Amino acid sequence: MKFGYFDDLNREYVITQPDTPLPWINYLGCQAYFGIISNTAGGYSFYRDARLRRITRYRYNNVPMDFGGRYVYLRDDESKEFWSPSWQPTRNDLKDYTCRHGMGYSVIGSTYSGIEAHTRYFVPLDENLEIWQLTVTNRRATKATISSFASIEFCLWDAQDDATNFQRNFNTGQVEVEDGVIYHKTEYRERRNHFAYFACSERDASFDTQREAFLGRYRSWDKPATVEAGQLTNSIAHGWSPIGAHQVKLELAPGETKQIVFVLGYHENPVDQKFDPPGTQTINKTLVKPTIAKYLDPKQADASFEQLRQYWESLLGIFQVNTPDIHTNRMVNIWNAYQCMATFNMSRSASFYESGIGRGLGFRDSNQDLLGFVHMAPIRARERILDLAATQLPTGGAYHQYQPLTKRGNNDIGGGFNDDPHWLIIGVSAYLKETGDWSILDEPVQYDNEPGSEKPLYDHLQRSFNYTLARLGPHGLPLIGRADWNDCLNLNCFSDTPGQSFQTTTNKEGKVAESIFIAGLFVQAGRELSAIANHRGLGTEASTYLAEVAKMESVIIKHGWDGEWFLRAYNDFGDKIGSNECKEGKIYIESNGYCTLAGIGLEDGKAAQALAAVGKHLATKHGIVVQQPAYTKYYIEMGEISSYPPGYKENAGIFCHVNPWIMIGETRVGHGDLAHDYYSRINPSAREEISDLHRCEPYVYAQMIAGKDAPSFGEAKNSWLTGTAAWNYYAIVQWILGVRTSLEGLEIAPVIPKSWPGFTATRTYRGVVYKISIERKGDGNQIALTVDGASIKGNVVPPPTDGRKEVTVKGILS
Ligand code: BGC
Ligand code: NOJ
Repeated sequence: MKFGYFDDLNREYVITQPDTPLPWINYLGCQAYFGIISNTAGGYSFYRDARLRRITRYRYNNVPMDFGGRYVYLRDDESKEFWSPSWQPTRNDLKDYTCRHGMGYSVIGSTYSGIEAHTRYFVPLDENLEIWQLTVTNRRATKATISSFASIEFCLWDAQDDATNFQRNFNTGQVEVEDGVIYHKTEYRERRNHFAYFACSERDASFDTQREAFLGRYRSWDKPATVEAGQLTNSIAHGWSPIGAHQVKLELAPGETKQIVFVLGYHENPVDQKFDPPGTQTINKTLVKPTIAKYLDPKQADASFEQLRQYWESLLGIFQVNTPDIHTNRMVNIWNAYQCMATFNMSRSASFYESGIGRGLGFRDSNQDLLGFVHMAPIRARERILDLAATQLPTGGAYHQYQPLTKRGNNDIGGGFNDDPHWLIIGVSAYLKETGDWSILDEPVQYDNEPGSEKPLYDHLQRSFNYTLARLGPHGLPLIGRADWNDCLNLNCFSDTPGQSFQTTTNKEGKVAESIFIAGLFVQAGRELSAIANHRGLGTEASTYLAEVAKMESVIIKHGWDGEWFLRAYNDFGDKIGSNECKEGKIYIESNGYCTLAGIGLEDGKAAQALAAVGKHLATKHGIVVQQPAYTKYYIEMGEISSYPPGYKENAGIFCHVNPWIMIGETRVGHGDLAHDYYSRINPSAREEISDLHRCEPYVYAQMIAGKDAPSFGEAKNSWLTGTAAWNYYAIVQWILGVRTSLEGLEIAPVIPKSWPGFTATRTYRGVVYKISIERKGDGNQIALTVDGASIKGNVVPPPTDGRKEVTVKGILS
């Protein structure tokens, strides 16, 4: 069953039924001001950091779900009936409800009682504000007298404090209202120099700023007393809960349309110009007023919307493909790329499942995310890499996360995840392959943000590599530390206390538990680092890396091979994990994925054997599960992985992030059909028809789909913010379609299904447009390339040195 449809031409998903199984959200903003918005206008906004600069309040895990957001109400002032065109919060029986989620905007609306209304929400480029354009049309045969209301609930900035510290917060709320603009200035009188505002294009609007005045006692958003009565009260909040609400009265002749613009924004004043006049406690508004006035003009709003459309057009235009599979095209050309920008912007901080207060930017997460967005935002990727590297510890280890606002490592979230440092090498390498900007390696970067500790970025990569060499276990495999990619494989934790965080509780300085996954990652990262060293003319150093890589490969084969697949780990007692000898958790996806992706066992058939075992034991119709058999009870020596009921999350759920490792592995052994089949099993667009089972948005990947051991097998959870976005994009574009970046140029090496006659693609790479067409003439993966008509040796097409800005690349597969 579907709840809407894809409008590929407009790059929108159109939801036609408001009560989707879960809120189906979109993101507003792509630089510093952000919001999440659901299909019924739920959600919230923040500036840069969803924890420390929350602009509007949102109550997670609310009843009813997703209650609170950017709500518009309409009231027929004759019949006194009121409703919300976005369905929530009033939930009337609307006609023609639609929510169009597009690239950086959402348009939500409906018709009710002959009044058609929709609101377009978006954040203009380069501004810290969001625009709501409410358009109301009278479809009745008679004149309509309508009151329109727009409302938001301000958050007192620090979202964690806001949700917990009521003894203080009920006393601090402050607002100012000037020229109809509501300014939210809680704590501005003391150490803040920022404020928020909510403005309305109609000058004779009335307003409310105290929540209780707007809603009425013991009432909720579905039935505000003022909306019911048809009149706001011009209340001024002192303490309690500041809100912003505007009321505009409309007289509409039959067929007449009117538009009202609302602007919700954030502004920072210079510290020495906070007040006007100086010495008072009144906000200095001189710097913000021109911005507010500018965007309240509907023409400006339209122009800004057009700019946003063009921005996405050009970002998505960097890679476009046309294959015989509509789901591949749609995800690659539109939604997967779009999701990659969201994961870049948000990491794992703010979604319907990530509260914005729990997690900052993950070190490993943000590095992996680079794989999916570096081509769209190389300058921002560069900045991100340098920020991440500056939180690296002098040991080469890493804080697991950092706060985007402060750019400091966040120790509260834990550390000692021994895979973390290698992702920096993977991320930097992806950046170099995309841009050829070798200067980044010479950038001085601090360790642990300590002034004076600056070393070239290259030094950070060396330390990342050496980190593992200094932490090898009894078999010569990397020690796992707190955990590796699998946060829940906590082999040194031994937690027996309810509620203890597996991520942060005291961890044993384990010298026994080893990870075959990190071993595979080390091999891959070592090869990348060696190639980088070679490019820098450091041949001897490059060979040292390769020697270590070769050593690790032989250790993997000796101690990390179980006979039919790669082992997963050794635990603190030196016992095997992910082995046929185990009762539960006999085979895991991660080590088999990463080792085959890294090309381990390609020559002697082990890679193909491991992949076949994954196909046999782990693959299901909804995707590939993490391990089998699932853990049926809690194992103290395993940690969080066994804390989940079978089939969920890391305990044998379909963790979509790691599925692409198998897809890539399959391309490495030449299985294009199977690689694409695995790709399609978790492709959300290909799952649209089963939206009632899948439940999450059909336009973006979810972190997890319940595995075959779960009662809800096939149900997705945790959509949007997941490494799945980058990895699937990377797997389909660079390995299945085979349009792959390399240090030397664009490599073309498709491993596509046999049934495909070929495909065409356009890729802008290092300033040159590559027009690519691939034609299948045989069943295999051998490719012969011509560039502008001349055949070339090998399959790497370097950017032309003669000034050509466009090249035509033709490939024949045989
Ligand atoms: C989850 C992981 C997550 C970790 C860190 C665990 O409970 O299962 O998927 O990465 O928490 O937040
Ligand atoms: C989600 C985390 O963000 C990621 O870092 C981790 O690798 C996976 N969970 C698996 O545990």
